[in-house]
Amino acid sequence: MPIQTILKMGDPRLLIIAEKIPLELIPTSAVQLLINDLLDTMYSANGAGLAAPQIGVSKQVVVFGFDQNPRYPNAEAVPETILINPAITPLSDIQDEDWEGCLSVPGLRAKVPRYRHIRYQGYDRTGNAIDRTVEGFHARVVQHECDHLIGKLYPMRVKDFNHFGFTEVLFPDLQDRPAEE
Ligand code: NI
Repeated sequence: MPIQTILKMGDPRLLIIAEKIPLELIPTSAVQLLINDLLDTMYSANGAGLAAPQIGVSKQVVVFGFDQNPRYPNAEAVPETILINPAITPLSDIQDEDWEGCLSVPGLRAKVPRYRHIRYQGYDRTGNAIDRTVEGFHARVVQHECDHLIGKLYPMRVKDFNHFGFTEVLFPDLQDRPAEE
């Protein structure tokens, strides 16, 4: 399937609230091809996740997951997940700040506050329900990707701009860093 162009911050399409997908449409080729494009585009960019609005499709679909990711070499593995119509429930008020990047914000990283413990629910590509309780980087990735569905990019969440900068300056030893990120 074709690898899609990833929209960059400044594109107004990244600010749109994405629409839910009617469950009866999940098996259709339009939705299945969208999922394939998201996975292919995410893997080709070494992304930890990707949301449909990032390829210009304003629908509530995100993909994420990796065993080992060169962009986040210290992150624990996250299972490959296709998540449709997600809902997130924080399970405590505790938030942690940690580094994030975004394929729509190439070359930059910031420390972003996110809930440590969350439950997330939604549907997979076969229409089966997903209901998981997670923490740490897994919880962070889900919150980051789902933010794309409500028009939020991580710089909008940054509280302390002392921890915001260029990846090549902050992490000069990061291996396999693509030219743009
Ligand atoms: Ni992102």
